[in-house]
Amino acid sequence: MTDLVPLLQQAYQNRASLLETLHAEETNCYRLFHGTNEGMAGLTIDRYGPQLLIQSFHDSLNEMQVAEIEAFYSILFSTEEIIYNDRSASNSRRQDANDERSLTLVGQELGVNYRVKGKHSGQDPFLFLDMRVGRRYIKAHAANKSVLNLFSYTCGVGLCAAIAGAETVVNVDFAERNLAIGKENSELNNLSSEQIKFIQSDFFTAVKQFAGIPVKQRIRRGQKPRTFPRLEQQQFDIVYLDPPRWAKSHFGTVDLIRDYPSVLKPSLLATKEGGTLICTNNVAKVPMDEWLDVVKRCAEKAGRPIQNIELLTPESDFPSPDGQSPLKIAVLHL
Ligand SMILES: C[S@@+](CC[C@H](N)C(=O)[O-])C[C@H]1O[C@@H](n2cnc3c(N)ncnc32)[C@H](O)[C@@H]1O
Repeated sequence: MTDLVPLLQQAYQNRASLLETLHAEETNCYRLFHGTNEGMAGLTIDRYGPQLLIQSFHDSLNEMQVAEIEAFYSILFSTEEIIYNDRSASNSRRQDANDERSLTLVGQELGVNYRVKGKHSGQDPFLFLDMRVGRRYIKAHAANKSVLNLFSYTCGVGLCAAIAGAETVVNVDFAERNLAIGKENSELNNLSSEQIKFIQSDFFTAVKQFAGIPVKQRIRRGQKPRTFPRLEQQQFDIVYLDPPRWAKSHFGTVDLIRDYPSVLKPSLLATKEGGTLICTNNVAKVPMDEWLDVVKRCAEKAGRPIQNIELLTPESDFPSPDGQSPLKIAVLHL
């Protein structure tokens, strides 16, 4: 069996200067151990404020290994909760013998407060840590801008925009429970309903209305058309497009491998001339250059050619020795 402690030590040492910076920036949510790239396939260890979250995706850890991990990180911070999620079996969430729900605590990133919960019915503790670089970008660029946050989940990008002093912030997600956490996050940061808005809607209906594209839906014989929230046509200075790998709804299919343009095109048209569209693709098997080709071609076809592209790379708590991070983030200046 792999001796874990030297691996944990090395990973911790590699992060020494990053952690110093993050702590100075009021960040206590970060990855401490990143799987294969740090010597143990499928093992991730994250700090979410006062929570230590250990997850194994390939092989289960035994009690001694979990205890070793707990003991090692007790030197770094005092934990209110330590959670081990064994996700090695398919359907692991439901089969997990220790599946009692965890505490809902508060973590901080770049001075922004977030609800964090290591174990719940979803798959992530309410904040995707590798997206910090994107939230950092928004915090630095959103002042006085109108911002549309698509597939907003718990609204981290929207919160950063509002805190940076954006003129308007609109978060769109179809999952009420995710927006509910977004609203709690907004309260945790003393934001008012003037500063940040939440729209529970399908992506396709919302973005198409903003972009001025007619909304179509496939209606089976005998079925009534679905209703959806009506929105005024509006373009935004900054649009953040961070879709899941695959999702199907009555209004369209999100498919980041086969059809990126179906999410990109309406998002481009909802962005102002001279505005910025930040788009992502988190599918590891899609190479950066192939994805960027698709993005550029789509922008040209949509009549919104890209003036300049900046790439954002996840910060060094997500090391990627081959430089090919699964999460690809492109800032498109239109
Ligand atoms: C990968 S998360 C997005 C992460 C988020 N951008 C962030 O910064 O944390 C995917 C989100 O997309 C939402 N979603 C999936 N399909 C959707 C659709 N067709 N319309 C609206 N929201 C959708 C899910 O509810 C979920 O919150």
